[in-house]
Amino acid sequence: MKARHLTPELLDELPPEASEAMASRLDLYVLNTLMGHRRAWRSWLRREFASIPPRALAELGCGDGAFAAENFLATFPEGNGATLFLVDRAPCVADITLRTLQRAGWNVYVETADVFDWLSKPRPLDAICTNLFLHHFDDTTLARLLALASHAAPLFAAMEPQRGWLGLAGVAALPLIDAHAVTLHDARVSVEAGFRAREVSTLWPRDGWLCEERRAFPFSHWFCARKL
Ligand SMILES: C[S@@+](CC[C@H](N)C(=O)[O-])C[C@H]1O[C@@H](n2cnc3c(N)ncnc32)[C@H](O)[C@@H]1O
Repeated sequence: MKARHLTPELLDELPPEASEAMASRLDLYVLNTLMGHRRAWRSWLRREFASIPPRALAELGCGDGAFAAENFLATFPEGNGATLFLVDRAPCVADITLRTLQRAGWNVYVETADVFDWLSKPRPLDAICTNLFLHHFDDTTLARLLALASHAAPLFAAMEPQRGWLGLAGVAALPLIDAHAVTLHDARVSVEAGFRAREVSTLWPRDGWLCEERRAFPFSHWFCARKL
């Protein structure tokens, strides 16, 4: 599996309230746990904001926002008036997710927007997080997205599928958790569109940034860029 190969994902085409979309989002939630993303994001957030809690964070491609909300709440149970932007072109954030964050002291803005439009407008942000999102874009489009993100925040992190045979083996095992057909399709095309080596770093603007990029065992790929 040499070059990245992009195929449209079914979840992106389905109306958010369709039963197939709801089933697949539920699978995504389970997969985020099985792939170790929950643990990885929480320890990263704790490390990055050990001394000063965040004042403003954004998640791009948040979907139902459940995964982001859970991680931010577990790491910073008291929002202390911090702002969280949940950005998606078709967000489907449940009222309960919103209310839980708000009750904990977060100011939450669910932003229905294409990321390119959203990133074009400057806002004060401490960090941008993305989970299973960057692989939706071909390299040329992704370079444009990353350039915009580099102007929007001094810290950027992404958890993506790692492109390779282990990922495909994981996809082949998905019927064991009774994953929905939409998930089976999207998981396979996500691995094919995923990343390896330093593929994201090469698309990130060169000067003035420290990039970390590595496999996140077993199935994932981690990228973080920090402004120097
Ligand atoms: C695979 S889902 C990931 C959801 C969530 N981050 C998670 O881990 O559960 C990808 C999300 O990206 C959103 N998306 C795709 N292209 C987008 C774009 N150009 N602008 C904004 N959102 C986009 C889709 O609507 C979808 O909700």
